Amino acid sequence: MSNIHKEFVFSEEIKTSLNTCWQSPSNIALIKYWGKEKNQIPKNPSISFTLSKCLTTTSVQFEPRVDKSSTYSYAFYFENKETPSFLPKIEAFFERIVPYVPYLKTHHMVIHSENSFPHSSGIASSASAMSALALCLLEPEKENSDKGEDYFNQKASFLARLGSGSASRSVQGPAVVWGKSDFFRESTDLYGIKMPSLHPIFQNYCDSILIVDVGEKKVSSTTGHELMNNHPYANERFAQAVERMEKIKCILEKGEIADFISLVESEALTLHAMMMTANPYFILLKPNTLKIIEKIWEYRKETDSKVCFTLDAGANIHLLYPEKEKNSVKEFINTTLSSYCQEKKVIFDTVGNGAKKISL
Ligand code: DP6
Repeated sequence: MSNIHKEFVFSEEIKTSLNTCWQSPSNIALIKYWGKEKNQIPKNPSISFTLSKCLTTTSVQFEPRVDKSSTYSYAFYFENKETPSFLPKIEAFFERIVPYVPYLKTHHMVIHSENSFPHSSGIASSASAMSALALCLLEPEKENSDKGEDYFNQKASFLARLGSGSASRSVQGPAVVWGKSDFFRESTDLYGIKMPSLHPIFQNYCDSILIVDVGEKKVSSTTGHELMNNHPYANERFAQAVERMEKIKCILEKGEIADFISLVESEALTLHAMMMTANPYFILLKPNTLKIIEKIWEYRKETDSKVCFTLDAGANIHLLYPEKEKNSVKEFINTTLSSYCQEKKVIFDTVGNGAKKISL
């Protein structure tokens, strides 16, 4: 593998058995990552809120291997069932990270993973899943060395990024920057860093996820990223994201909600505009996504609410609002918005503090 990052190489031999479990949250990007280079390097910096209730819990049991006939020896269970469809993704992940976690080859691993949200909710689980798995896979090194919390957070995010870019932002919270930005001193393309100072209003911000479509996406994020390579507006978009990092930093530090609303909504629509102007073009929004957006704009006009929306690469709406509006927005959802959701599905989440080790 070319392009080795020496600071994260671990070459000691480990022969111990170990059982570990981690719980990692999903995250929602405010400035979006859309477009990447080789080796999961983002084309532009991004920033997200870490969530607290949309979680993946993963456990890994490591046993030193006797039989060394195949490259990796492992069993994978998703929600207690063997799921062969996940194996190619997991093996590709192992292959990318093995220079940094060589004991993957010297141990048999039994992996169990489950999500707190239903599989059919249309919620992308790669961020929470890859982050929880990366944290588990790092545990043998953690148990056998004393490099300190910062190093392990960085390395966990670095490994998670090699599984899925946005997963690099799921290790810590409440707000995480991934990708080199001049406005965040320690930011890097290699892993996510916790935003040092977040205004209190955002520390318990609410994110209610309106499930407009539970179906599998027609175009994967991976394809979407690829289509940014020959996109007519790519350079302008990457430059815009770079500039927006300065704006969002100021907004998040000072608690400027009016500016937050216009920046975050514009970012969501820009992401989808990139999809609609790609070659080939595609649309992930659904009619009900637009109906909900109109209802949000009407509601803001009629009340002094600060509720706004963002979108990930799908049709679902993330409704973002301050904690003090919890009850009124809940009522707005129940009376107006939930009827545009599939089976009226809504997940009430809030900003959270990142991954947690679960004692077994
Ligand atoms: C629109 O992290 O899912 O949610 O690196 O190929 O796994 P891969 O892509 P992924 O892309 C996320 C795209 C996004 C924006 C974001 O989360 O920043």
